[in-house]
Amino acid sequence: MEINQIKKRALIELGEIKDLTGLEAFRIKYLSRKDGELTAILRSLKNLSVGERRKIGPEANRLKQELTEAIEKKKKISAQGGSRLAGQDTKIDITAPGLKVPQGHLHPITKILRQVEETFQSMGFEVVEGPDIETEYYNFDALNIPAEHPARDVWDTFWLKPVNQKLLLRTHTSPMQARYMEKNNPPLRIIVPGRVFRYEATDASHSHTFYQIEGLMVDKEISVANFKAVVEEFFKRLFSKDIKIRLRPSYFPFTEPSFEVDVKGGKFKDWLEIMGAGMVHPNVFKTVGYNPADWQGFAFGLGLDRLAMIKYGIDDIRLFYNGDLRFLKQF
Ligand code: FA5
Repeated sequence: MEINQIKKRALIELGEIKDLTGLEAFRIKYLSRKDGELTAILRSLKNLSVGERRKIGPEANRLKQELTEAIEKKKKISAQGGSRLAGQDTKIDITAPGLKVPQGHLHPITKILRQVEETFQSMGFEVVEGPDIETEYYNFDALNIPAEHPARDVWDTFWLKPVNQKLLLRTHTSPMQARYMEKNNPPLRIIVPGRVFRYEATDASHSHTFYQIEGLMVDKEISVANFKAVVEEFFKRLFSKDIKIRLRPSYFPFTEPSFEVDVKGGKFKDWLEIMGAGMVHPNVFKTVGYNPADWQGFAFGLGLDRLAMIKYGIDDIRLFYNGDLRFLKQF
């Protein structure tokens, strides 16, 4: 009689349990070794008459078994993430569309990099890459920047330890000019995209880590006019809208003459310096084993981040690198 009442009550309670804490409290209430209700009954069997013991004993044991199994079953459902712990008979709608897996997309710098590569490839340039960690020789010496020359200070450098190894994080993509020319004969047309590093303070248009695209074209009778034509064509293909270009005289040890290229257009009302460039210096040709009397060439180093800023109308370079999804999701 008593067993039946306990059973009824226990089954109702079990149906209402919503979580594992509830389930554990239920187990303790009925089955705990110390003071479980059912345990107490089983323990008190010895005080009963033989007849009662024969009747109640098996019933109590059966209920104990039943409750133990029911508890285990509920635990399993919960482990499978089932919502049926509460006892409702959840129906699964097999026609419902599946959960959409969130998908990422390309970073704006990667996007513009691919466009730049395609544009130059369509003009006959090959894409090559160089190492991020450079030797002092390729980053400076091979580019006609002797040790102790003040021009070295223009590129504030991250040197790697141990310093006597003379390894550094490349400050520009120009080292690849020398690396490529050492191994390939002219005529040639290459671009070298890559990350570069400078030990300098950041602001809206300067980052310590940024991207450059080096360009190099070497052939017979190449002049500044060829450079201007290629660069103008490049900008025309990349931006459908009107972008103005200006060449300003400048100085780089590895080009002569040298200039800066500024662009203006879109959101940018002022001129923004976008690349350094010039005609390859005869000393660079000599270093890589070309005869400067036979070959001429132009080279440039384009700031990819600045290009992306103009293309997408972004006024702070740091947005590219701080990983803010509110910014990145707009591309
Ligand atoms: C150079 O790095 C030369 N190697 C470019 C060159 C190549 C000249 C071949 C001649 C021949 P410069 O330091 O000016 O030059 O940098 C080139 C471009 O990189 C700049 O015009 C600018 O667009 C970008 N740039 C430079 N510093 C930063 C910076 N801290 N953050 C973002 N972009 C930068």
